[in-house]
Amino acid sequence: MGFRYIVEHMEEDEETSKAIPKWVELEYMHMRTLAGSDAHVHFTHLSTSSCRTLTDLFSSSTGHGIAQATAESKPILELMQGLSIPMEKVCLLDPKAEKAISPEDGDGRFECFLFGVRDDPPRDRTSELRVLGFPTRHLGPVQMTTDTALGVTKLVVHDKIPLSEIPYIDHPTIVFNPKESVEMPFRYIIENGEPKLPPGMREHLHEDLNKSFDF
Ligand SMILES: C[S@@+](CC[C@H](N)C(=O)[O-])C[C@H]1O[C@@H](n2cnc3c(N)ncnc32)[C@H](O)[C@@H]1O
Repeated sequence: MGFRYIVEHMEEDEETSKAIPKWVELEYMHMRTLAGSDAHVHFTHLSTSSCRTLTDLFSSSTGHGIAQATAESKPILELMQGLSIPMEKVCLLDPKAEKAISPEDGDGRFECFLFGVRDDPPRDRTSELRVLGFPTRHLGPVQMTTDTALGVTKLVVHDKIPLSEIPYIDHPTIVFNPKESVEMPFRYIIENGEPKLPPGMREHLHEDLNKSFDF
């Protein structure tokens, strides 16, 4: 059994009836690929409707090389109780942690790696998880998207690549055409000279840009 990656949904505007935003859906789908086939990704603290949407999406997209995934309305502590996972086996990825993540953190010390979901403008939402008392690790000084944070953690703890050897790009500008572009306020893994975005994210960002000019 590989690692468990837990993504606690922390968006404030989440009501029970509200569907998850498209960008969250795209990031969540990307995390299954980034986590790899021997992993399990748990998406916790979701509304009932988001659980339904994601469960349908997960069952319709199975394939080689992707992690098992489950969407649940339970928050993290209830999930851990149900799976009998003790607090000290869960590592919270926290930008304010004292220690950076290292390949040794994948040698049995931890069973699970826990992430919050981004919010923009950046506020310290990870603090809501920090107060629960998990051991913590950081991923460097620049804020990453949650899918990037999960992907980088996997490269370090599973593939044993030191944090400093992963190629990054900070705050990239995504250019759609000579007149339209958008700057992303995060750090990404760089692959073939491009930031590694979730499939479909580029198109989604472009549509979103057009929508905001649609008076
Ligand atoms: C986009 S970040 C959320 C940022 C948000 N402003 C906060 O700190 O609460 C989403 C998650 O990715 C992880 N993350 C992103 N960048 C990180 C970094 N440099 N070090 C550690 N964790 C990071 C954390 O688990 C964080 O909760």
